[in-house]
Amino acid sequence: MSNNPARIAIAFHSGYGHTARQAEAVAAGAASVPGAVADLVPLDELTEDVWARLAAADAIVFGAPTYMGSPSWVFKRFAEESVRAWADNLAWRDKIAAGFTNSKAMSGDKLNSLVDLAVFAAQHGMIWVGLDIYPGWAESTASIEDLNRLGSWLGAMAQSDADLSAEKAPPATDLRTAEALGVRVAVVTLRHLRGALAA
Ligand SMILES: Cc1cc2nc3c(=O)[nH]c(=O)nc-3n(C[C@H](O)[C@H](O)[C@H](O)COP(=O)(O)O)c2cc1C
Repeated sequence: MSNNPARIAIAFHSGYGHTARQAEAVAAGAASVPGAVADLVPLDELTEDVWARLAAADAIVFGAPTYMGSPSWVFKRFAEESVRAWADNLAWRDKIAAGFTNSKAMSGDKLNSLVDLAVFAAQHGMIWVGLDIYPGWAESTASIEDLNRLGSWLGAMAQSDADLSAEKAPPATDLRTAEALGVRVAVVTLRHLRGALAA
């Protein structure tokens, strides 16, 4: 395998900092895998630097808060502007993709946001990776501290109490789940890159 690290970009929006905590946890998980590096890419300003960093990535993990039942408009603006990569002969084709979202309600229609992110990745010809963790907090003896306590497979979910600042929410349990997604994406990306070299 080449000595180049697997580059995992985390392309995210966060209005008030809560989803940014989740993004940082995904990045920490990805960077903990030997041979992988993580790049946190905020989407508030869509500079040429943002597009260059995403072009250089082997995997892009998309993240947004759920606002009114779908990814925030700042994320949607990014998604629409990404047509420049789509029109460039599917420039993101075969990159690994994954996603995460955060909202205040336990459900809050977060699944709809993850579906949106997965469809977006599919339109770019990317390869979607979900979460490989049994649902936590789902039996009478289970704990809120369980990994994947919100029971999501399409991507990582987090819940932030509406009256708590980003220093206190989302809780550590959801940040651990986000970290696990980052680890999984890095491992799968490394396998994918090795396979491409062998082919
Ligand atoms: C405009 C708006 C719409 C929202 N819609 C939802 C929603 O559909 N479901 C939900 O559970 N929370 C909803 N929320 C709450 C946010 O998802 C929640 O506060 C989240 O932690 C914000 O993340 P951020 O700090 O990264 O922006 C909404 C918040 C705003 C500002």
